[in-house]
Amino acid sequence: LMSISDLSPAEFTRLVLNASSHKAAVKAAIGVGQAPPQTLHGTLTGRTIAMMFSKRSTRTRVSTEAAVALMGGHPMFLGKDDIQLGVNESLHDTSVVVSSMTSCMVARVGPHSDVANLAQHSSVPVINALSDDYHPLQTIADFQTIHESFEARVPTDSSLGLEGLKVAWVGDSNNVLFDLATACVKMGVDISVASPTGYGIPDAMKQLILSAGNGVSTAGKLSETTVPEEAVKDADVLVTDTWVSMGQEAEAKKRLEAFAGYQITNELAKRGGAKPDWKFMHCLPRHPEEVDDEVFYGPQSLVFPEAENRLWAAVAALEGFVVNKGRIL
Ligand code: CP
Ligand code: NVA
Repeated sequence: LMSISDLSPAEFTRLVLNASSHKAAVKAAIGVGQAPPQTLHGTLTGRTIAMMFSKRSTRTRVSTEAAVALMGGHPMFLGKDDIQLGVNESLHDTSVVVSSMTSCMVARVGPHSDVANLAQHSSVPVINALSDDYHPLQTIADFQTIHESFEARVPTDSSLGLEGLKVAWVGDSNNVLFDLATACVKMGVDISVASPTGYGIPDAMKQLILSAGNGVSTAGKLSETTVPEEAVKDADVLVTDTWVSMGQEAEAKKRLEAFAGYQITNELAKRGGAKPDWKFMHCLPRHPEEVDDEVFYGPQSLVFPEAENRLWAAVAALEGFVVNKGRIL
């Protein structure tokens, strides 16, 4: 699983619905003091999942380790100072060796080509746990969160029933956006992106996002603007992320200046004309400059259920790619 582009609408729908149904089943079981349901427990018994992380992580690390534990497997965390990768050994050699002893590699990298190279030389499935271009596990959790929040909409085999909703992304055009926008186009959700001049979606990425709509009769529309108010007009969900992603720390001052005026606030939502019952999402970690406390901790914020859903997204991805060997059932 390199990016959401790898998934058909039916596969993406199935992963999101599987994440939701595992959440409900495990919570019901744990609620009455039972072990996790048999459908999940033991599916990874005796298997090791290597987690190769070259960057910090709270949610992705905790959710992946907890998901593997729920499924009876062994999560092996390999931070950047733990293994030879990147210092003393090539991606090729590391991939061949680690995949010969484990059942899956979950990798957090800088350049996307690093995780693609790992996948190319691996004999086991590789899951992208964030690269400079994509964050597919986050997008599965985000759509689970949207699906839960608009529960009156009925899913089918290849649709979550979310067609016609509008997402507004206000902030940096980054890895989290690229996969989110791809899923929006695939799932019939319109997405409007407001970023400052010079921080928009690169052309090649835009083409890739739009190609997610090929063959989808209800494809969502992607629009771009530099005006936050334009993006939030009629939006059901407002989303943002940090203005300074990991690896961009040297540009922090320049970026904070460029993004002034892009903070999500209730005033912005009102001025721009977001839907009255709009929701707020953020992948976290969050900084106050991109969203103020009133919105982040307010009643319309979905950020903590969204973070929890990372666990269920990890369960669904491991089940689909490792237990069921890429057949997303
Ligand atoms: N949202 C997310 O991926 O968080 P972490 O960087 O803490 O894993
Ligand atoms: N865009 C952020 C996401 C972190 C989960 C980053 O790449 O640092």
